[in-house]
Amino acid sequence: MTANTEAKPAGVEALADLLAEARQRTLALVEPLDDEQRNRVYSPILSPLAWDLGHIANFEELWLVQTVGGRAPLHGELGRFYDAIENPRKTRGELPILRDAELRAYMAEVRERALEVLAEVEVGPDVEDRLLRDAFVYEMLLAHELQHCETMLQLLQLVDGYELPLPIGPAPVDGDGPEMVSVAAGTYEVGAGPRGFAYDNERDRHAVELAAFEIDRTPVTNAAYTEFMADHPGAEPPEYWQPDGDGWVDTSRGRREPIAPDHPVIHVSWDQADAFARWAGKRLPTEFEWEAARERLADVGQAWEWTSSDFLAYPGFAPFPYSEYSEAFFGDTYKVLRGGSWATHARVARPTFRNWDLPERRQIFSGIRCARDAS
Ligand SMILES: [Fe+2]
Repeated sequence: MTANTEAKPAGVEALADLLAEARQRTLALVEPLDDEQRNRVYSPILSPLAWDLGHIANFEELWLVQTVGGRAPLHGELGRFYDAIENPRKTRGELPILRDAELRAYMAEVRERALEVLAEVEVGPDVEDRLLRDAFVYEMLLAHELQHCETMLQLLQLVDGYELPLPIGPAPVDGDGPEMVSVAAGTYEVGAGPRGFAYDNERDRHAVELAAFEIDRTPVTNAAYTEFMADHPGAEPPEYWQPDGDGWVDTSRGRREPIAPDHPVIHVSWDQADAFARWAGKRLPTEFEWEAARERLADVGQAWEWTSSDFLAYPGFAPFPYSEYSEAFFGDTYKVLRGGSWATHARVARPTFRNWDLPERRQIFSGIRCARDAS
């Protein structure tokens, strides 16, 4: 492109602002911590925060600086230590990654270069390059950073005395309405359409046939889950619950606070969710039932909701822009979660967004919503 004497293409300023906003969230989350806490391995299933921070910047460098901008990487081969597939979480604390002042400098330098490149590109709907068309690659970067903010919040649940620096957190469920909503049998469209940002696993949009079903209007509360446990002595409580006298306390972030009975239960595994649903005489919804019903559901966005669905490719699936994002995880190993949690940024929680995890995992902000076949 020629020098920037003409007006920048539409959307570029907005993208710069959005990138800055996402970075603000990232930095706000780690601001209360010292370098030792950022480097510490708290759990074998969660990366040290320093890895997440370096990975966020490295992903930005890879896509926005190297791929779009054609620049060479700042630190040669460093990127391989931030490859999420090559480096399982339990190994990340031992990697020769950037830490402390070097890490902060890298994040800032990558951002500076990414903004330089952004000023050179066009991101309109008619751009031929699919990465740039409708600013796909920038939307992907924003989503990636915000998704890692949620991953970091999973780890921050383990940090004693950590106070949330943002106005986020669980809230009481909306008790005002019927227990269940009925959804008629029929053909429903699911998945993301061809325009706008979505991950490859949300496409193609396609029709599914659903039998009539009912689905809980609200997610399962802590009170209901406590009842289920009382009925199953020895049943595992959600992560971070500890017995306290006759009841339970929440020990996340090193606190000992009474469990709020009217909040959605979070940090439960798929196995726990499935067992609860059976106990309640119901079942977990499929991911398509969830999507078909979603406009009528309350409190979507408080806790990720486990579904009975395996994480599979939609008809017409094509990996884009890289097959490690989704394709590597397709099969019957992972279960799909829908919705979003209090830790999820609104930009991430699209109605068609598919989250996935192993059925035994509960470090994620996962809850339960039950369904049943229509009687
Ligand atoms: Fe990532």
